[in-house]
Amino acid sequence: MMTKQQFVNQIALEKERKLPHINQDKWRNKFHLMAPIGWINDPNGLCYFKGLYHVFYQYSPLDAKGGLKFWGHYTSPDMVNWTEHEIALFPDISEDIDGVYSGSALVYNDEMYLFYTGNVKYKGDHDYVLTGREQNVIMVKSTDGFNFTEKQVLLTNQDYPQNMGLHVRDPKVWEENGIFYMVLGARSIDDKGYVLLYKSLNLTEWELVSVPAGGLDEMGYMWECPDMFKLDGKNVFMFSPQGMEAKGLKYHNVYQSGYAIGSFNESKQQLSLGKFDELDRGFDFYAPQTFKNHDGRVIMYGWAGVPDAIEHRNPTVEIGWQHCLTLPRQLVLKGEKLYQFPVEELKAMRKDETVIPNVPLGEKRIFELFDTNTYELDLAFKETTSFELAFREDCRLAWKEGIFTLTLGESGYGRDERSVKIESISNLHIYSDHSILEVYLNGGEDVFTSRIYNKGVDQTLELMGTGEVTLTKWTL
Ligand code: FRU
Repeated sequence: MMTKQQFVNQIALEKERKLPHINQDKWRNKFHLMAPIGWINDPNGLCYFKGLYHVFYQYSPLDAKGGLKFWGHYTSPDMVNWTEHEIALFPDISEDIDGVYSGSALVYNDEMYLFYTGNVKYKGDHDYVLTGREQNVIMVKSTDGFNFTEKQVLLTNQDYPQNMGLHVRDPKVWEENGIFYMVLGARSIDDKGYVLLYKSLNLTEWELVSVPAGGLDEMGYMWECPDMFKLDGKNVFMFSPQGMEAKGLKYHNVYQSGYAIGSFNESKQQLSLGKFDELDRGFDFYAPQTFKNHDGRVIMYGWAGVPDAIEHRNPTVEIGWQHCLTLPRQLVLKGEKLYQFPVEELKAMRKDETVIPNVPLGEKRIFELFDTNTYELDLAFKETTSFELAFREDCRLAWKEGIFTLTLGESGYGRDERSVKIESISNLHIYSDHSILEVYLNGGEDVFTSRIYNKGVDQTLELMGTGEVTLTKWTL
């Protein structure tokens, strides 16, 4: 087993070698969080603690294609300006030797608690689904958010229900009326996705409180990264099912991430879930996690990537890095539908506002708008029944006959087309960074997150359609 110090030395050498190339890469993003070197996946341990936002994340510093996982660490006073810190958690005990996997933070009594999955893979001939693996729930504590106590193993595979296989992970912990709850994502022996709900009075002893929810035929074989939060008095359950089949325009990403309104009947000890809805239609969105901010907002980060993508790729692997996180998005419920929109704080990034008011739409018009790929663009439509917009060399956004479609050409590196049905359009809002687009429709009713790798800066926006539009652009 490698010690923390050995890892620190090895990663420092790797940084010395790779950083000069990575830092010059034109595809490094300006305002999306990335791993300093190597690979990033899930956001972990999100919280606001003693005046700082903490974003931990799944980090493979030694391999841009993913590999041994650590928890990387960023903090910010405002969700705009971020500071990189030393790696927070290393795979340095026998219970997490093959990876410090995903988990969450709980801020309680002025302390930060982190809960994560310690991944262990035995040597030998195993399928690592039913044999050869351990997934342990482990906790550490901190009074300052930077120095952590010794790791404490809370649950091991023996503690999970007997019909579960060895994939049980990604603890999300919260407190309600003096009781602590934890959800874990799981794969049953017969390959169905489940969520397990545990409770505790002291954060160290946990008991299963519900028959596991899930086991639905069309909902895949594994549910990763479960999350549960309250909005408008409703329990929203968020998770990332693997193995769902595409249905019409839905579920076309490699794996899905979505939510269902859930309810928990304490006396019957039963957790039930409503209808599942996908969170993001782009190509690159997975494993989202939320935290409740000190001002009451529920804020979500996602991984702007997916595991196991075959049809599309990220050319930055050759340069020594891959993936990034999404922007922080505030979640709001309208009826039973979740809306997402980047947090207010991000407006502080705006420079040089350009407004082109009341443009009548018709045949193609060309606007020279951009001198960099980092901008925010808002289109406020009036009486528009269809439109098409082209920008960033070969990216098209179109709404025709009630279907909105994002299309990418060469710059998508295999990403081609994704669509959603929408009844009307009032607003389209785009955050464009050097190698990612986040597209918000109608104030966050639907969202598309996609990586994009352009050759250069395309100055133009081509636009055609019906009705009228007001364009607003800010350089970021
Ligand atoms: C989701 C996930 C989690 C796991 C982590 C490992 O992307 O597979 O279930 O904890 O990534 O990096």
